[in-house]
Parts: sequence; structure tokens; C-alpha cells
Amino acid sequence: MSDPNDLAAFLAQAWQHLGRGVADRRAPARYPTFATVSPEGIPQARTVALRAASSTAGTLEVHTDIATDKVAALRHNPVAALHIWIPRSDLQIRVTTQVAILTGEAVEAQWRQIPEGSRVSYGTVPDPGAPIASVYDYEKPANRTRFAVLECTVTAFDLVHLGTQHRRAAFVRADGWAGQWVAP
Ligand SMILES: Cc1cc2nc3c(=O)[nH]c(=O)nc-3n(C[C@H](O)[C@H](O)[C@H](O)COP(=O)(O)O)c2cc1C
Repeated sequence: MSDPNDLAAFLAQAWQHLGRGVADRRAPARYPTFATVSPEGIPQARTVALRAASSTAGTLEVHTDIATDKVAALRHNPVAALHIWIPRSDLQIRVTTQVAILTGEAVEAQWRQIPEGSRVSYGTVPDPGAPIASVYDYEKPANRTRFAVLECTVTAFDLVHLGTQHRRAAFVRADGWAGQWVAP
């Protein structure tokens, strides 16, 4: 049994789950809830797919269409929170991030990796969220210019483990991820 006092191991466990989410579409961290704040100050949460995770850089990557509300929100307020619940590990992962919206040449490598059939996720006409006259009154052409990578630089983690005795810790980039146990 690993040492329950080991803060570094606790954080490493979270990164391990994030990495699994990228590699395995059935892993719980594949589909985090991604929350932004609208220009009007209203919280907005939605499911996204986790496309990359780097524990060394402390970054996560999400792909989206620049015409979505989340991009409008991020242009106004470039912060996002991600939330993941890992049932088998009884672990809640909450992540706070600063987000850069990358488009154009900067995302050419990622675009090339996306299968033809999946590229239609970027370019819906009319724009996502626009009212339509009937249920299927839209088209989904693949539109390279609408593709964006949201590069999320992690600034903080809040981890909660619901064991026999609960454990909760806060980690911030500012102190080199030293971590601090907090009351659950
Ligand atoms: C399983 C699942 C995965 C999704 N993955 C993404 C994604 O990776 N990127 C994305 O922009 N939207 C994704 N969506 C759609 C979003 O949840 C959302 O409906 C859409 O992006 C519009 O959100 P917004 O208007 O709040 O920006 C996904 C939805 C589901 C159900």
C-alpha cells in the first residue's frame, strides 16, 4: 500500500489518469467537463474530449470550433476549469487553467492528425447554437479555418480521494506543485 501522506504521488496519480484519458477513449478522463465564464459572467459547462496531456509542461489540450460559445467566452476571459470524476479510483480531479486559443498555421500538425470523418466537427453551418427551422436543418462541412486548439496551461489542481478516510490536496504551479493537504 502506498503512503497516503505522499503529496507527489497523489498528484502523479491525477496526471496518470489524464494521460490515460488521452490514450483510451473508454477511460473516464477522456471526457472532462470544461467550464468557462461567459462575457456576462455566467458559468458554462460542457463535455469535451481530452486530446493531449503533458505532466512535464503542465498542459492539457482540447480541440474545438472557433464559432462555439466557449471560444467567445475564452476570448473575453481566458480561463477554464476542467472536472473529472474517476469512479473506480474514487477520485475527483479539478483543474484550473489559463487558455490560449491557437488557430491557423499553429494548429496544422493537429489538423493533419484528425481523421477525415472527424473533421466535420469543425465548421457546422449555421454556427453552433444558432436557431434552426427544423431538427436537421444544418450542414457539417469540414472547415480547416474553424479548427482551434485550446492550449490549457494548468495553474492549479484540487484532488479529492474518497477513501475510508477522505484525502484532499491543493496544488499550484506558483510553488512548483509542492502541494498542501486541505480539509476535505
Ligand atoms: C462526448 C462528447 C464529447 C465532446 N467533445 C467535444 C470537444 O472535444 N470539443 C468541443 O468543442 N465540443 C465537444 N462536445 C460538444 C460540447 O459538449 C458542446 O455541445 C459544444 O462544443 C458547444 O458548446 P459551447 O456552445 O458551450 O461552446 C462534445 C460533446 C460530447 C457529448
